[in-house]
Amino acid sequence: MASFTTLRATATVHLLALVAISNLVKTDYINFYNIRPPVEATPFPKSFKCFTCDQAHDNYNCNRWAEDTWCPQNTQFCMTVHHFTSHGKTKSVTKRCAAREDCYMVGCRRHRDTSHMECVSCCEGMICNIEVPTNYTNAVFAKRQTVYSSAPPQRTRALLTIASLGLSRLFAG
Ligand SMILES: *[C@@H]1O[C@H](CO)[C@@H](O)[C@H](O)[C@H]1NC(C)=O
Repeated sequence: MASFTTLRATATVHLLALVAISNLVKTDYINFYNIRPPVEATPFPKSFKCFTCDQAHDNYNCNRWAEDTWCPQNTQFCMTVHHFTSHGKTKSVTKRCAAREDCYMVGCRRHRDTSHMECVSCCEGMICNIEVPTNYTNAVFAKRQTVYSSAPPQRTRALLTIASLGLSRLFAG
């Protein structure tokens, strides 16, 4: 059993190395020394993660300390709720996995009594909710057009993993 796990981990490393070499030119902005192969298997097909935090002080602290867990199977999107003053100063950031219905509330609203603003955005994809929405141009429901219409080639999938790992290091690390 142990040797099987090791074998699988080794295979993953080899795959990542192959992908890294074959795409060196295209992906030279990624620091490959920072990349460690995922040690866990995906819990189910199409599984993904979101930055997840509850009323963090600001976006940095949300991303920095966000939980690293898979989203539940009944969710498909990552949601961000940004609460800020009329001067644009962040009051709180909340991020979570979301179902499609949750995402119908994207957009910006002004609180009548505090005159604070709240912008909500949704996106689709592995830890896609990096930034916070600040106005109507980015407080949107960003769905991927081609997602899962057919199974992407293995290489693309591995690259996506690398890219998201790189992003999570960049923004969370
Ligand atoms: C919306 O916010 C983004 C990011 O803060 C900013 O770059 C952009 O200029 C803003 N757009 C408008 C219309 O205010």
